[in-house]
Amino acid sequence: MADFKKSSVATFLRKNKICPVCTAKRIMASTQIHIDGADKFSNGTALTPPMGWASWNLFRNRINEDLIFDIAKAMRDSGLADCGYQYVNVDDCWMSSTRDENGRLRGDLATFPSGIKALVEKVNALGLKLGIYTSNGTLTCEDLPSSLYHERTDAETFAEWGVEYFKYDFCHNIPIPTNAPEISTVTLTKPGSSEGITLYAEDAEFRGNAILLTDEKMAETGRYVSGLESAGGSMYFSNVEIPEDGVYTLTLGLHKAGLRDKYLEIEINDTDVYSLTEPGTKGFTHDGRNQITVTLKKGLNSFKFHNPVASRMDSAAKQYRNMGKELQRATKLVAEREGREEKPICFSICEWGRNKPWIWGHTAGNLWRTTPDIKPNWLSIIGIYEATVLLYKYAGPGNWNDPDMLEVGNGNLTDDENKAHFSLWCMLAAPLILGNDLRKFIRPDGSVDKDNKVLKILSNKDAIAINQDKLGIQCRRIKSNGLCDVLVKPLENNEIAVCFLNKGPLEMEISCKMQDIIKESFAVLPSAKEYDVHDIWEDKKFEIRDSLSAKVAPHSVKLYRIKADD
Ligand code: GLA
Repeated sequence: MADFKKSSVATFLRKNKICPVCTAKRIMASTQIHIDGADKFSNGTALTPPMGWASWNLFRNRINEDLIFDIAKAMRDSGLADCGYQYVNVDDCWMSSTRDENGRLRGDLATFPSGIKALVEKVNALGLKLGIYTSNGTLTCEDLPSSLYHERTDAETFAEWGVEYFKYDFCHNIPIPTNAPEISTVTLTKPGSSEGITLYAEDAEFRGNAILLTDEKMAETGRYVSGLESAGGSMYFSNVEIPEDGVYTLTLGLHKAGLRDKYLEIEINDTDVYSLTEPGTKGFTHDGRNQITVTLKKGLNSFKFHNPVASRMDSAAKQYRNMGKELQRATKLVAEREGREEKPICFSICEWGRNKPWIWGHTAGNLWRTTPDIKPNWLSIIGIYEATVLLYKYAGPGNWNDPDMLEVGNGNLTDDENKAHFSLWCMLAAPLILGNDLRKFIRPDGSVDKDNKVLKILSNKDAIAINQDKLGIQCRRIKSNGLCDVLVKPLENNEIAVCFLNKGPLEMEISCKMQDIIKESFAVLPSAKEYDVHDIWEDKKFEIRDSLSAKVAPHSVKLYRIKADD
């Protein structure tokens, strides 16, 4: 510690150029949203839309470990696993209302008494994967403990349990404040010592809205920087000489600035980002302080202070990105620690489309809900489809729009509505997460009810192939009159899927010229004299020349796979 002088003799330090000082100046900077620069989230999962089952749509809070395991068995025994369904996802209500003595989440002590790790092992033994759920809030939507502010612990817990899918809801979310603290000094000390370097706001470089103000009631110089909020301004100290590598305490001397909560990011050497929140205060004095531990390198270090959060969207993006990173960190850590292969966790963002997750979702996770919750009725399904069909450009391998879990087989949906719902999700390249009772597909004698209409839909391999096509391109609506839509989805090998959708209550004739499909720049179908068409639900093959047309029943679709006849 001999290299350090007492912080109280900061003038001495400055005179002796121990900390090179930057001239205070204001440089107008753009208030670019942080999201733009963030990397794509990629963990090797969901290269095609994830397929599985989740407990919420049908079972709500009536779940327990036996039910989940029975569903997993039914997934395997019914042949659904062979069709590609692999995740068995436990939605809300799996957790105890109290964390354990180490602050870790645990299964409900009465309904999941064996614990989630044991359930993972049993489900894995069937060749399937287990998924789990919490909320990006202080509680889940059913008011149970959740992961906001517990991201690292919970991600590690899930990784240790061997969970492979994680749905992160948005109930009880607390947004990151857009306000920023007002900073007068930054002091760096070694833990266990009060000696250190103090940097003064008036010596910093200011950008954007950052501005130096004075409050004579403050101790020391009374000068502080304001204007660091809402991605509008920042304060820099470059070239701060640090005598040795190591861990330091960074103490912010603050100007108490009202009752609103504040958030600050400290970027050190352009790489390490530390964040802290500052509760609104109304103290006796005008001086406040906040402390974090940082790692510094010997030699010159740079420090940037700002709040890059300008909106609810920034906040949600940052919080989900944070959890995504923690999951990736945790799965690697656990794999190394246990000397086994990494089990990446498919990360499902469930923020209901509130903060346009299609814009930032690919920087945070593998899929993002586009709308509020689905219900097992035609209006709900069509409403969600209408919102999601517009978002085609955001979907692709590894990162998908999620129009919510399927309701096929639930409520009073007709056979046509079930087929239409499933077809639309296939065309949308949507995750196929089933929401019905899979146990119904197995007869009491253990045999599979192959005639079950719902099972036939969910296991239609030709429809699934459209959804799972490796190109990973979401369909586009190329024609619509409001009641009837024509959707086109490019597929591998220059093939396409076409879906005629009749949303209305009367039978409709829908037709489309092949030239209209071909001229869409995204469609890969070559122009040809004849085309081979496979009507997927009728399972009939036929040829066409110039146009495709069909009578489509109410609340129904026609689903085709088409290739040029060579
Ligand atoms: C929210 C989600 C649903 C479900 C419930 C559970 O409503 O959007 O999908 O997870 O919470 O409480």
